[in-house]
Amino acid sequence: MTRAHGHPGLFITFEGGDGAGKTTQAALLERWLTDAGHDVVRTREPGGTEVGRLVRDIVLHHRGEVAPRAEALLYAADRAHHVETVVRPALGRGDVVIQDRYLDSSVAYQGAGRVLGRDEVRDLSLWATGGLLPDLTVLLDLDPSVARGRLDAEDKPFDRLEAERETFHVRVREEFLALAAAEPDRFLVLDATRPADDLAGEVRGRVRTVLR
Ligand code: TYD
Repeated sequence: MTRAHGHPGLFITFEGGDGAGKTTQAALLERWLTDAGHDVVRTREPGGTEVGRLVRDIVLHHRGEVAPRAEALLYAADRAHHVETVVRPALGRGDVVIQDRYLDSSVAYQGAGRVLGRDEVRDLSLWATGGLLPDLTVLLDLDPSVARGRLDAEDKPFDRLEAERETFHVRVREEFLALAAAEPDRFLVLDATRPADDLAGEVRGRVRTVLR
């Protein structure tokens, strides 16, 4: 298969707030595609490479403030290295890349701090990746108060972003929905309160159409 983006593979990203179920859906899709005989690379940002794991440690676990522009550059640095060393080689081989979070997370989260604008954050990521956009982005949309209940139930300590105030997460959600509305062909928006199996079925339906 060769598609508009000029590589023989397929690049699928999962986006949404913390606790929306991205990891579960990515795993279900990976299993389905692997069973159908596709070569799949499942990865994530931040932290999909050795360098990225170091960056992830700073952005998620550093105590105290990270300047907004520094934070945006750290995510972009992780992304640049990850795309160059993992994602593009896989797409070049014709693999399906299933990725937890990509540039839409930067626009939604770094933009939601209100210091940086949507366009500059997006442009930074596009520069970092040589303009690589996903073929399909699945947005698992969830009310942040429901997400918070799920995270509380996990009983794990919150990372820097999870610990942000509710208003921040409301803005993140709104930004994701605005991004999806602006690019309806790239996005599939799903209500993340639905049962995981139903969501997986919808994702498979859409992936079938892009695989064709
Ligand atoms: P994630 O790996 O989904 O967290 P977890 O392993 O706890 O489920 O994402 C980590 C956090 O990083 C998440 O709160 C969103 C944030 N993030 C950004 O702020 N900008 C970005 O560009 C990316 C990729 C993630």
